[in-house]
Amino acid sequence: MKIETISNSEEDTINFGKKLGFLLKPGDLILLYGDLGSGKTTFVKGLAESLEVNQDFYITSPSFSLINVYEGKYTIYHVDLYRLDTLEVEDLGLWEYLNEGIVIIEWADRLKTPLKDDYIEIFFEFLDYSKRKITFVGYGEWQELLKGLDWDEESH
Ligand SMILES: Nc1ncnc2c1ncn2[C@@H]1O[C@H](COP(=O)(O)OP(=O)(O)OP(=O)(O)O)[C@@H](O)[C@H]1O
Ligand SMILES: [Mg+2]
Repeated sequence: MKIETISNSEEDTINFGKKLGFLLKPGDLILLYGDLGSGKTTFVKGLAESLEVNQDFYITSPSFSLINVYEGKYTIYHVDLYRLDTLEVEDLGLWEYLNEGIVIIEWADRLKTPLKDDYIEIFFEFLDYSKRKITFVGYGEWQELLKGLDWDEESH
């Protein structure tokens, strides 16, 4: 099950993030794929907003910190694997965070071992300066859950 959408602006991508954010609960896993600057962190900003993360938390790619933790309605672990190789990624013990909160991973291509059966993959592709193709793929319970979202409808 695959859902393809077009984002025409940074704001659109934030709105897509918000819509998904409303469905999330602790234990949920989201894997993000796409080139530098394709919109992964922008999407996470929307997620964080709908999960009531305080505006004081600065949502940014955790390229140096590896993991940013945001407190909102739930705890969010925002992970960036860009600088790591597969072995280093396995040492992070990422699955442990899934007991505590929501886990969102940028550069998930570095992940070689699945962390759980139910998860969402989101692919970001450049179309032009302000346009991105965003593809959502659900696994396990998310195959059905993603269908319930109307990605083309304005969120309020
Ligand atoms: N439709 C769009 N969706 C998302 N971002 C957009 C869009 N159009 C333009 N942009 C711009 O593209 C950039 C996306 O940056 P962002 O940090 O979200 O990328 P990223 O995928 O997290 O990159 P990195 O791999 O470096 O962490 C921002 O500067 C944003 O303003
Ligand atoms: Mg980023």
